[in-house]
Amino acid sequence: QIVRVIGAPTDYGANRRGVDMGPSAIRYAGLADQLRAAGVEPVEAGDIRAPYAEECDPETRSLRTGTARFFDETKAVCTQLAETVESALAAGELPVVLGGDHSVAIGSVSGSAAASPIGAIWFDAHADLNTPSTSPSGNIHGMPLAALLGIGEFGELEWATAPNLREENVVLVGLRSADEAERALLEERDLTVLTMSDIDRRGITAVVDDALEAATDGVDEIHVSLDLDWLDPTAAPGVGTPVRGGVTYREAHAAMEQVAARSAIRSLDLVEVNPTLDRSNETAELATELAASALGKRIL
Ligand code: ARG
Ligand code: MN
Ligand code: MN
Ligand code: MN
Repeated sequence: QIVRVIGAPTDYGANRRGVDMGPSAIRYAGLADQLRAAGVEPVEAGDIRAPYAEECDPETRSLRTGTARFFDETKAVCTQLAETVESALAAGELPVVLGGDHSVAIGSVSGSAAASPIGAIWFDAHADLNTPSTSPSGNIHGMPLAALLGIGEFGELEWATAPNLREENVVLVGLRSADEAERALLEERDLTVLTMSDIDRRGITAVVDDALEAATDGVDEIHVSLDLDWLDPTAAPGVGTPVRGGVTYREAHAAMEQVAARSAIRSLDLVEVNPTLDRSNETAELATELAASALGKRIL
């Protein structure tokens, strides 16, 4: 299996600067070697060109209502990323997208779902279900799932939605921070939510089993979006929006190993690594290890 490594170095979708250095940090931490240890063959695609925040005007331009900072830049990067992911898949490769902030998932999932239906699992402390009018921050990294599902203002944005992703096949794992409008949405809609409390009560293995079940209901393959803030900040300090009470190092590996065992992964994101907040590139290293586990690396 060829794995196409695609960098998407954005940081303007986040509330802290610095996740644009994520792709370099993850490569430098040894991603290619880890992937080879997982038995796959990495091919480097380089980075999508993303402007620096300093080059841009953060004000919303192309939205009629709500606030989505750096909307036009996000659209440009996600459109290119979607094309890159789609052509990797067409060539029989497995795309691994290195963020960047989580807004890049709008591109990776759109591209991944372009040709045929998929499910998606969001391993994340957050729900990423805000819309331009509900977001307390205006940061697009808190909105990618809403965009892909065409919720709110995103319903009229063809580039941001993934019609081949049904909300019944979307699963959030490890949620522990949700804004008010996100809670309401989760009540109303048919996404599956497995919170940190579910992991406390039932253990990571049972929870990830359920996640895989729901995500693959009626579809063969899934996109895995791994936001490093899914882990507890003690294990992953280098993230911009840390939330205490996340999964441990070992729970994270167990979950990724279970993903690999299901052999249903079509594409993978590794996002929100912030080297400016990290301890000796530890979080980037962790991202490489978890990617390897998700793609089949085993202890024996
Ligand atoms: N819910 C908050 C917001 O909308 C935080 C989102 C954090 N998202 C992330 N991908 N780290 O701003
Ligand atoms: Mn996220
Ligand atoms: Mn998050
Ligand atoms: Mn679309």
